[in-house]
Amino acid sequence: MDLLRDAEIDPSPLAGKRVAILGYGNQGRAQALNLKDSEIDVVVGLRGGSGSAIEAESAGLQTDLLENAVASADVVMMLAPDEIHAALYREVEPHLHKGAALGFSHGLSVRFGFIQPRPDLDVFMIAPKGPGTALRSLYKQGKGMIAVWAVEQDVTGYAAGIAQAYGRAIGCGRAGLIASTFAEEAEADLFNEQAVVWGGVPELLIAGFDTLVSGGVSPELAYLECVGELKLIAELIEARGIAGMREAISNTAELGALLGGKRIVDEAVRERMAQILAEVRAGQFADELRNEEASGYERLEKAREEARSTLLDQTYRSLKETE
Ligand SMILES: NC(=O)c1ccc[n+]([C@@H]2O[C@H](COP(=O)([O-])OP(=O)(O)OC[C@H]3O[C@@H](n4cnc5c(N)ncnc54)[C@H](OP(=O)(O)O)[C@@H]3O)[C@@H](O)[C@H]2O)c1
Repeated sequence: MDLLRDAEIDPSPLAGKRVAILGYGNQGRAQALNLKDSEIDVVVGLRGGSGSAIEAESAGLQTDLLENAVASADVVMMLAPDEIHAALYREVEPHLHKGAALGFSHGLSVRFGFIQPRPDLDVFMIAPKGPGTALRSLYKQGKGMIAVWAVEQDVTGYAAGIAQAYGRAIGCGRAGLIASTFAEEAEADLFNEQAVVWGGVPELLIAGFDTLVSGGVSPELAYLECVGELKLIAELIEARGIAGMREAISNTAELGALLGGKRIVDEAVRERMAQILAEVRAGQFADELRNEEASGYERLEKAREEARSTLLDQTYRSLKETE
């Protein structure tokens, strides 16, 4: 695998350049602060009246209105939510310097046509593989978070150098930068969100909890069994891989996993996974995301409310209170 680390990355493509971070949310805050601590000239671009201005300024960052930040920058990072990238790009495009570099932390908005970057721009991606809170805390510990890098347009001949130097400056080069493309990263990320870690796994936990409770087990014990042990297995997989995790558990748990796991995740599940991947590639999810934003996030608000009122969530809260 082509994994770049700090020692192989030339920091000079960012030297003397000014970076505008558009958005001060999960990724924007972490990337802006890591850049500042890496002595990069950074400005946070915010919409007029943004409540984030005070927070960013009190963290020692310079802020400006979106158009001014973009006009002053050589590198512009789009770190607002993906579904508003089309509107945000329309707003800032007239202020982008000819030959500037436009950066993303997810391939979605370029892969699925939310944005068609101007042909004179370098277009790159540094996608840290985890939340901004962890990106920032790892950086402060002298560590880093692995990231995927890609170039979609290289007009100046420096796009790859800028992407890698940017990844180094936010601390990701300490863990490693993996080469990819906007399409590969976007499709794999959307697939995982829907079918595996963020979609599949929580639904499996909920179904397991519901099955035990329906079978007469107390909600507290069902929660501890089905949800509480997730962190332990995640840590074991992270430390030892899946084969190593299996060797580290009791023979009872290992045999149970062997006999039960494939009955739950059977051929039909794999077929539905393949279906989800095909739908992602056909742009169906990108359309859903656009519609969700246009509807004022109706479905997401309703789902959040429903999740908070389930027996599983009430059990989580009551167990937390006893800690
Ligand atoms: N979240 C993650 O863990 C993660 C991980 C890897 C990659 N990514 C990628 O990083 C990018 C940013 O995601 P995020 O989760 O960090 O976003 P986020 O936290 O939801 O972004 C919030 C920021 O976006 C600004 N914003 C929202 N709507 C805006 C608008 N219409 N015009 C201008 N600014 C607007 C907000 O402005 P105000 O401050 O004014 O409210 C706020 O500063 C996405 O491409 C995402 O896929 C995210």
